[in-house]
Amino acid sequence: MSKTTFSAIKADVGGFPGHATVHPKLMETAENNLKGSDILLDYHITHCGDDLELLMTHRQGEDSDEVHSLAWDTFKKATEVAKELGLYGAGQDLLSDAFSGNIRGMGPGIAEMEFTERKAEPLVAFMMDKTEPGAFNLPIFKTFADPFNTAGLVIDPSIHSGFTFEIWDIKESSRVFMDAPNEMYDILALIGAKGRFVIKRVFPKEGKLPTDEPVAVVSTEKLYQIAGEYVGKDDPVAVVRSQSGLPALGEVLEPYSHAFLVSGWMRGSHNGPIMPVGVDQARCTRFDGPPRVIAVGFQIKDGKMGMASDLFDDPAYDPAREESALIANYMRRHGPFEPHRLPLEDMEYTTLPKVMTKLKGRFESVE
Ligand code: F6R
Ligand code: MG
Ligand code: MG
Repeated sequence: MSKTTFSAIKADVGGFPGHATVHPKLMETAENNLKGSDILLDYHITHCGDDLELLMTHRQGEDSDEVHSLAWDTFKKATEVAKELGLYGAGQDLLSDAFSGNIRGMGPGIAEMEFTERKAEPLVAFMMDKTEPGAFNLPIFKTFADPFNTAGLVIDPSIHSGFTFEIWDIKESSRVFMDAPNEMYDILALIGAKGRFVIKRVFPKEGKLPTDEPVAVVSTEKLYQIAGEYVGKDDPVAVVRSQSGLPALGEVLEPYSHAFLVSGWMRGSHNGPIMPVGVDQARCTRFDGPPRVIAVGFQIKDGKMGMASDLFDDPAYDPAREESALIANYMRRHGPFEPHRLPLEDMEYTTLPKVMTKLKGRFESVE
C-alpha cells in the first residue's frame, strides 16, 4: 500500500476573547471546509489556546500543493468568520494574500511526515500555545535519547542503538544530522540553545523501521523571521509515532510530567512553565498563559485517524499542572526582570529596541 502522510497545520486566525482560545464557530467553519475534501483520508480539528489546529491524513506526501491550499483556504474562510464575529487578531498568522501552492513561509506552522504504516500505528500530535518551536527540544530529546525517561533505550533491543536527530539552525537556515547516544553531549550543546537550534526530525537507526522515514517531526516556522518583525506567536506543533521499535506511548508522554520552562509567554517576551492540559483546558488566561501543551493520540489504520484520545485530560498530569501553576507564581514575581523577561537579543522584535532608539543621543561614554 502507498505511504500515509500525516499533516498538522495550524494558524492563529482570531482569538476569543483576546488571545485566550478559539471560538467554536471557527472550528465549525474549518470542519465544513475539510469535510467535503476528496484529497484527505481523514481529519481532526482541534485548538490549543488561540491556535486553530488542522490534523489531516492523506496520500499526497509532504509539501503537497493540494493539501496546503486546502489548509490555506480553510484558514482564509475562518478569518472571514473571525472578522464577522469581531474576534481578536483576525487573520493574524496569514502573512500574505497571495497563495502560491506551498504554505511554508506564509505564516501557519506545519509538521508533516510521510511513512509506511505498520500493522498498528500509534501516533500523537502535540500542540503548544504561547511558546516557540524550540520548546519541543527538551521533551523530544528525552523521549528519543534519555534512558532515564525512555526505559526502552536500555531494555528493548529494537531501540537500543538509539536515534538520529535532524537539528536546524533557524538563524542560519542550515541543518545537521547527529546520532544519539554517541553524539549526545554535542546534541545537547546545540539544542539547549533552544531559541536557535531546533530539533526538526528524528529518524530510527537500523532496526524494525525504514531509516529514511521520520518518527517525529516538529514545526520550525519562526514568524518574526518570515515577517521581518514580531507579528504574533510561533506556537509549534509536533507529530510523534510510537511503540514497537519506537519509544512506547508512555515514554513519548513522560517528559510532560515536568513543567519545564519555555519562552514565549505574554507578548512573546517571557519565560514560563509549560502546562500539560486536556483540550478543554487549553485556554490561555493567566498573564496570557501559562504556555500550554495538548496531546491528541490516534491509532492510524489505512490512513484513517479513527477516534481521537485527549491524552493530557488525565489526573496523572495534575502534579505537572500544579508544578506549572507554582512556577508561574514564582516567575511572575520577577515582573520585567530577566530571566522571567527574555534576554535583550530575543526582545529585538518587540518594544524594547524602541526604548534604545529613543535614548540613543542621551548615552555618554564612560571610562
Ligand atoms: C499572543 C500572545 C499575547 C499577546 C498579548 C498582547 O499569542 O502571546 O500574550 O502578545 O496579549 O497582544 P496585543 O498586542 O494583540 O494586544
Ligand atoms: Mg492570538
Ligand atoms: Mg497562539
